[in-house]
Amino acid sequence: MKFIPIHLANAQPIASEGIIIPNPGMPLHDRRGRAVHDLRISVTDRCNFRCVYCMPRSVFGADYPFLPRKELLSFEEITRVARAFAARGVQKIRITGGEPLLRKHVENLVAMLTEIEGLELTLTTNGVLLPRMARTLRDAGLHRVTVSLDAIDDATFRAMNDADYPVAAVLQGIEAAERAGLAPIKVNMVVKRGVNDHGIVDMARHFRGSGHILRFIEFMDVGSSNGWEMSAVLPSREVIARINEVFPVEPIEPNYTGEVAERWRYVDGQGEIGVISSVTQAFCSTCTRIRLSTEGKLYTCLFAQQGHDLRELLRAGASDEELDRAIANVWSAREDHYSEIRTANTAGLRKIEMSYIGG
Ligand code: GTP
Ligand code: 5AD
Ligand code: SF4
Ligand code: SF4
Repeated sequence: MKFIPIHLANAQPIASEGIIIPNPGMPLHDRRGRAVHDLRISVTDRCNFRCVYCMPRSVFGADYPFLPRKELLSFEEITRVARAFAARGVQKIRITGGEPLLRKHVENLVAMLTEIEGLELTLTTNGVLLPRMARTLRDAGLHRVTVSLDAIDDATFRAMNDADYPVAAVLQGIEAAERAGLAPIKVNMVVKRGVNDHGIVDMARHFRGSGHILRFIEFMDVGSSNGWEMSAVLPSREVIARINEVFPVEPIEPNYTGEVAERWRYVDGQGEIGVISSVTQAFCSTCTRIRLSTEGKLYTCLFAQQGHDLRELLRAGASDEELDRAIANVWSAREDHYSEIRTANTAGLRKIEMSYIGG
């Protein structure tokens, strides 16, 4: 059966009934009392990798219907949305994809976003284009990067990215980011039991003492294409146990309330690691993130089944007040808490692919 991506389904109308919207400039809270703090922007649905947990080649192969250029939000449109969110309390922006460095002149978007005051600007990448782009991104005003790397041995890494990229290509990217001052660098490893979990301690060994923060992420049932099964999830507590046997670690306080990663440090002072446990320890109660997809839909949860179309509004010449109202409506109506209610049945629902809304 042919895979039909869910973004082609109709967008959800932006609701307004029964919701009291605070005046422009006031912080927004959703129905569970969570304020919006973090906006993630996907700038392309394409990627040069085919990670098995994100864009499996069997689905995202040669005839996959990636978005044509005119469907993408322009940098001007993205910046306008970001400005509207900043006025409502967003303080952190993450540029993602797909692979965001594949979007032509993404540094121009970074430069445009720096004109919005008080924002922390970060980007998530697979790293292979960083040797070429790290300096340019830094000069444009980017603060830091998070780099995905799922193994430190080539055979496993190639099996995970399914595009034949070697580990060295990513390590060179991390070095380039470090030289450019895009630090502290976070390194994300998605752990899939039976595929790369044998390399957990090797990854820890490699990054200990480097100043980079390695984070282990539980394999999640995002989208509907990655064949997720609970049996492929290695709980974070087991990740920590395996590392602790070789390099003793102890828990440390979060940097801020609602931090996604739980932090641990090596007892011998060789730095910190993190675990992200969306499956075994949901963190929805403090989730302050909203996502803007490549083609301009707002998603209030990583596991959403529908987005709210902003592009039509933007292209129909909406005023700043109308845009603010739409955003306020979407956030105020939000009730999402998917990771708290996940079951084998919900895992099979048709959900938005992560490559449209970013990690
Ligand atoms: P910083 O601490 O600012 O670097 O950001 P972060 O911890 O939010 O990290 P990042 O964006 O790198 O997220 C890391 C991974 O955590 C993502 O790639 C996802 O796999 C997962 N994640 C992030 N946000 C959410 C979320 O809202 N829900 C769930 N279920 N998982 C998330
Ligand atoms: N489970 C967990 N994390 C995922 N990512 C993508 N797909 C998944 C998944 N199924 C995250 C990873 C990766 C980032 C780009 O998106 O953190 O590093
Ligand atoms: Fe590409 Fe990142 Fe998805 Fe891998 S996880 S396919 S690098 S977008
Ligand atoms: Fe937020 Fe949805 Fe993730 Fe829960 S599952 S933390 S609501 S994005």
